[in-house]
Amino acid sequence: MSISDYPNPGPNPLPDPTRVNPSLGGVGLSPQGLSPGSGLPDEASLARLANELFASTPSSPLAGIPGAGLPGISPVATPQGLVPDVPGGADPARYAPSLGGVGASPQGIHPTSGVPSEASLVRLAGEALTASPDLTAGVLPGVPNLPVAPPPPVLVPDVPLSAPQSRGSATEAWTIPLPYEAELRALFGGPSEPAHHDMELKPDIPLSTPHSKGTVDPSPVPLPYDAELKSLLGTIGGETRVADPTNGAGSSLYFLKDIGPASPQGFGGIGVPGATGPGIHSEFASAHPPFDVNAIRRDFPILSEHVNGRPLVWLDNAATTQKPKAVIDRLVHFYEHENSNIHRAAHELAARSTDAYEGARQKVQRFINAPSIEEIVFTRGTTESINLVAATYGLQHVGPGDEIVITHLEHHANIVPWQQLALAKGAKLRVAPVDDRGAVLLEEYGKLLNGRTKLVSFTQVSNALGTVTPAQQMVEMAKRVGARVLVDGAQSVSHMKVDVQELGADFFVFSGHKLFGPTGIGVLWGKKDLLNSLPPYQTGGNMIQDVTLERSIFHNAPNRFEAGTGNIADAVGLGAAIDYVERIGLENISRYEHGLIVYATNKLLSEVPGLTIIGTAPEKAGVISLILKGVPSEEVGARLNKYGIAVRSGHHCAQPILRRFGQETTVRPSFAFYNTCGEIDLLVSALRDIQRQAGHSHL
Ligand code: ALA
Repeated sequence: MSISDYPNPGPNPLPDPTRVNPSLGGVGLSPQGLSPGSGLPDEASLARLANELFASTPSSPLAGIPGAGLPGISPVATPQGLVPDVPGGADPARYAPSLGGVGASPQGIHPTSGVPSEASLVRLAGEALTASPDLTAGVLPGVPNLPVAPPPPVLVPDVPLSAPQSRGSATEAWTIPLPYEAELRALFGGPSEPAHHDMELKPDIPLSTPHSKGTVDPSPVPLPYDAELKSLLGTIGGETRVADPTNGAGSSLYFLKDIGPASPQGFGGIGVPGATGPGIHSEFASAHPPFDVNAIRRDFPILSEHVNGRPLVWLDNAATTQKPKAVIDRLVHFYEHENSNIHRAAHELAARSTDAYEGARQKVQRFINAPSIEEIVFTRGTTESINLVAATYGLQHVGPGDEIVITHLEHHANIVPWQQLALAKGAKLRVAPVDDRGAVLLEEYGKLLNGRTKLVSFTQVSNALGTVTPAQQMVEMAKRVGARVLVDGAQSVSHMKVDVQELGADFFVFSGHKLFGPTGIGVLWGKKDLLNSLPPYQTGGNMIQDVTLERSIFHNAPNRFEAGTGNIADAVGLGAAIDYVERIGLENISRYEHGLIVYATNKLLSEVPGLTIIGTAPEKAGVISLILKGVPSEEVGARLNKYGIAVRSGHHCAQPILRRFGQETTVRPSFAFYNTCGEIDLLVSALRDIQRQAGHSHL
């Protein structure tokens, strides 16, 4: 069956929110939520509520909202931090403080008192109704907190809450309960109960909080603007069905425990509301500025694409990441102003091109904290980097009876070259097992290491499960037996700060295209003395010092391993990508993405019946691998495409680890820092639809 065989879910069956009621600010109120028939609030009653509310300021709970009245400036995108140093770099003006920013609008703040206008209160209520998880507010330290109108959501969920065939059918439609729905209905005169109820929550993997073994924690979790809305409505007791994401200790989802603090900005001080709750670690409170995902998304032109009539939701970042305008423009600039082969002395353009190429090498060096620029070798990507090491170090150092150790988690690119090498040399490939969560069994790994171990090669983050391996510890263990170590950073560099000196490995490899850079460019980092002791990988131009018809003398690294004309422009593009990522900051990225993973895990488990997550290791990054009971993964992927949602379905070039979990394929949403909780909501809604359409809604 091909993608086109699946029915298009059709255009968004929900009316354009701004057409539902423009005064609600276009926040996506569903007809189910506040239909005209159920009585929309009139402006006068909201004005009255607002007046009552603000009569009590500054002691009003609203006074505690950080960032109120401030421009929507992104602390990760300050004018200082985003002054472009390459053509096409981020335009500081787009991040400059402006009341039109995401934090507050002139419309949202009373011109003289600094309190929210009635319109903004209406919008606030609307936002809370839809609980759009993409709310971010600009916050600057040390500036008085004032009430703020939430920004418009990045994406108004337009995946139908009801399946196409049940459109308009009150009895069949599934609805997602809206926060405070009952209160709003009571207040505004609608029916006391929604027409439809969502299904019972039956996660396949227990969240196993201490007080909710095997079930979803029923304790209510504050929603964005929870206190404000309660105050506005004068009604307490809104039920939510959000599982507590913070009590993962002792569970198979330990990684859930590290979520940041509850705040109007979300968790961890970052702009991902929707997953706050008790037991939250408070050390992050106010320690981190909010992460302005709205501003970041504007840097990626492709994120404005539509697919099948819907906004593109790019959740295939583990396969490749999208490119910011800064990278695209840098490539254009190279070809328009610098293009030449790299032989500096020849002419002006050669000098420009060489400077750009070597400048990119320097950026890579800084990015991974390599001791020397000579240790940075440009390759076509991770796969070529690993093959290079197998063909050079392997050729020179691995012999009959020697052992190479990998883990069960590896991508084919970190299995097959070693299999081939072992086959050619009469060596043995040994595999460290993982536990049922997908975490490496360190004790078992340790047992595989011995004096015959010539090389250990393992991934820092699993592309199939998202497991983060204890890389530094594994390197240390390998070093104790004198083995060389290669760490595969293909899936880690976009999610976490890597410092090769801290890591202590001998080789580190990654691909540019998974780091928001171009395809066809990658990196091999290796220790200088080791690299210079290895034979060349390929031979030809650019890598030789001197050639006679009888013999050749090779350059040292990096040229030694860069035979022929390299991918000059894309190396320069990779440099621009690194600049971009560094301006945002890997720490900010890690924190934000951790929030996304926690939010997605909870939401998927609690709201999609028959869904199982494959891989629940204590530390995860970037990836959630899942299966949907009764629906083949390929079919799920193809159907998601109809909703404009891109995920990878299949074996992810990691068949051994999927088979370890009894699977041939999974569906794999994978995340980057430009993804939002709103997109996760769309994914969840679409999966529910797919499950229901497949006739498994009883699960
Ligand atoms: N290695 C890439 C992935 O995991 C292609 O999808």
